[in-house]
Amino acid sequence: QAVLTRLPSPSLFGSDIDPVLLAAAYQTRSRFRFALTDPKKQRFEVPHENVGPFSGPAASNLKYKVDVQQNPFGIKVTRASNGKVLFDTTIGPLLYAEQFLQLSIKLPSSNVYGVGEHVHKQYQHDVRWKTWPIFSRDAAPSANMDNLYGVQTFFLCLEDNTGASLGVFLMNSNAMEFALQPAPAVTYRTTGGILDFYVFLGDTPEQVVQEYVKFIGLPALPSYWTLGFHLSRYDYGSLDAVKAVVERNRAIGLPYDVQYTDIDYMEGRKDFTYDKVNFKDLPSFQTYMHDYGQKYIIILDPAISTEALADGSSYQAYERGQSKKVWVNESDGVTPLVGEVWPGRTVFPDFTNPDCTSWWTEECKIFYNQVPYDGIWIDMNEVANFVQGSSNGCEQNELNYPPFTPHVVDRLLYSKTLCMDAVQKWGRHYDVHNLFGYSMTLSTQRAIETLFPGKRSFLLSRSTFAGSGKYAGHWLGDNAATWDHIKWAIPGMLEFGLFGIPYVGADICGFYENVTEELCRRWMQVGAFYPFSRNHNTKKCTPQDPAAFGADSVLVKSSKHYLNIRYTLLPYLYTLFYKAHTQGDTVARPVLHEFYSDEATWSVDKQFLWGPGLLITPVLDPGVDIVQAYVPDAVWYDYDSGAKIWLRKQWTQMYLPADKMGLHLRGGYVFPFQQPATTTVASRKNPMGLIIALDDNNEAAGELFWDDGESTGEPLSAS
Ligand SMILES: *[C@@H]1O[C@H](CO)[C@@H](O)[C@H](O)[C@H]1NC(C)=O
Ligand SMILES: *[C@@H]1O[C@H](CO)[C@@H](O)[C@H](O)[C@H]1NC(C)=O
Repeated sequence: QAVLTRLPSPSLFGSDIDPVLLAAAYQTRSRFRFALTDPKKQRFEVPHENVGPFSGPAASNLKYKVDVQQNPFGIKVTRASNGKVLFDTTIGPLLYAEQFLQLSIKLPSSNVYGVGEHVHKQYQHDVRWKTWPIFSRDAAPSANMDNLYGVQTFFLCLEDNTGASLGVFLMNSNAMEFALQPAPAVTYRTTGGILDFYVFLGDTPEQVVQEYVKFIGLPALPSYWTLGFHLSRYDYGSLDAVKAVVERNRAIGLPYDVQYTDIDYMEGRKDFTYDKVNFKDLPSFQTYMHDYGQKYIIILDPAISTEALADGSSYQAYERGQSKKVWVNESDGVTPLVGEVWPGRTVFPDFTNPDCTSWWTEECKIFYNQVPYDGIWIDMNEVANFVQGSSNGCEQNELNYPPFTPHVVDRLLYSKTLCMDAVQKWGRHYDVHNLFGYSMTLSTQRAIETLFPGKRSFLLSRSTFAGSGKYAGHWLGDNAATWDHIKWAIPGMLEFGLFGIPYVGADICGFYENVTEELCRRWMQVGAFYPFSRNHNTKKCTPQDPAAFGADSVLVKSSKHYLNIRYTLLPYLYTLFYKAHTQGDTVARPVLHEFYSDEATWSVDKQFLWGPGLLITPVLDPGVDIVQAYVPDAVWYDYDSGAKIWLRKQWTQMYLPADKMGLHLRGGYVFPFQQPATTTVASRKNPMGLIIALDDNNEAAGELFWDDGESTGEPLSAS
């Protein structure tokens, strides 16, 4: 510990904190933590399940060395093995005021990856003065540098071609900015809470991710069926229309496990209700799906309507929540804050309140007893509100109008969400806004444990925070059917791998806008290799489920071909998820994680790997059948033909006509497989086998994890 006193200088935003207390700990041999707090007053700290006090013995045999510089204060973390400075805050001053905290870090290289949620367009950051706002927001991904749904404050830095890497995580949930500079350096600039930094050292990028993810929470092991293909759209209009889509995709023999209904299944878009006219048979829909070995997932939004049902009867879910007083309150701490979302006037459940979790769990159960379902998709949990702050506006005060506002969308913190002075159990919305989706995930996980005891089910969340991956997967939000979006999905997906949320994918064929056959065909090809593989579409757009393009279309033929390969390789994919779940490995893996000694891989983001062994090279441009692709330094075999390709460590022109994408198996690996079928219920009964891809020495090795695919208990067998 050390006490830091402020050097004389003009105040930037007022209310400077002086002195500041520094606490630091050698937590493990590869993890260093330090925090800066106000010794005179308790400031907001994220009540994260994995953060503890500074206590316990110091780790020994450290991979790092720490030096603290005085006048002015700075902290330097050095790699013990080679003396390289990895993390150096002496590049800029520490600023610590009531609502403005800033620290800059000089880095050993400009190979920086991560931090979100944004569309970065490229996986390797551009360090030429780019400032990214971080604040959870219901905003559609676009070319703008907008803050999007989730809050992820972790980045990885590859030091050099030895693979040595570091990771940096700031545990802070306030609205903030992350600025990259060419020094190379980064600056975290946040509007509250404390500065609580974690520095992770690894010998490889994978090791850094493992260290980080072990700290914030190892990702959930998905149930096997959730690795199948999913179909969804907003506004099918009726259950008959849903069934027609299900039937036509069954009829073409598409590998397909999961069907969703979006908010149009509800009555008046109210959670825990269903449209008794257009979806009158919804109570038997799960059985209809199960009869074919398929599953059914519902959507739930946080906002709860305050109004009665159409027939004048009371809306029970609201009434019960009201009597338990589980809503987010206005600044007075007692009046429920009212806003407006899909169902009209709404209140917002305070998922940081344990009573709210009990109420939510109970509502999920009551609805399940009417309309059985297999998993839950939670949306709009940034939290989204269609009026600014509340129906009564927001007061003029320093929470709603802080002295410094990061470059968030609209430059107004309460835009499209709640007033910042709203009151929740964990604290003011100002401090806990970025935890809304995370807390809703925790509550919904409780509901799932109650509904499916001993089973893993399915949970998908739009808004995430550090540690969300322990319970939920994520999709990249409301993208659009454009060639830009198909490209941006790969960096986005790789970033969520770094954040410990490996069960991730973008909406295949795009959510907004009408998709062309060509784009949808290319997207079905690459999407067959998203860890979370779902085709989802918005209202009023032309249908984009594969069968809609005609049973004899190239799109259907190609979609079936690649989904069959996905289903064939599910034992390999499932094993990768097991390794993510037990050690924090990535699943959809950046090429540089395997081939870091080759600088050419450091910026590859139009290709990716499944684990160490399957190289995926999609077509991401229109009118193209030749792709500029990188072949990393290994022996590779073409998946379809088994032929060895006689190139390595070079760029090549890959010929990928309309029905084809690049898929290559890496020599040295064994891939467990199973004969595919149109559902995982059926495929799991088929014979299994091994694809053995030999390396230069005619050797190969691999692993298989196998169990019943859904139990939460100890694995039945592992090898
Ligand atoms: C919100 O107000 C109700 C009274 O209406 C109160 O019982 C509840 O504890 C408050 N919740 C919070 C988080 O302040
Ligand atoms: C999509 O196509 C439909 C039917 O042709 C048309 O009505 C709709 O306006 C189109 N939507 C967009 C976003 O272009």
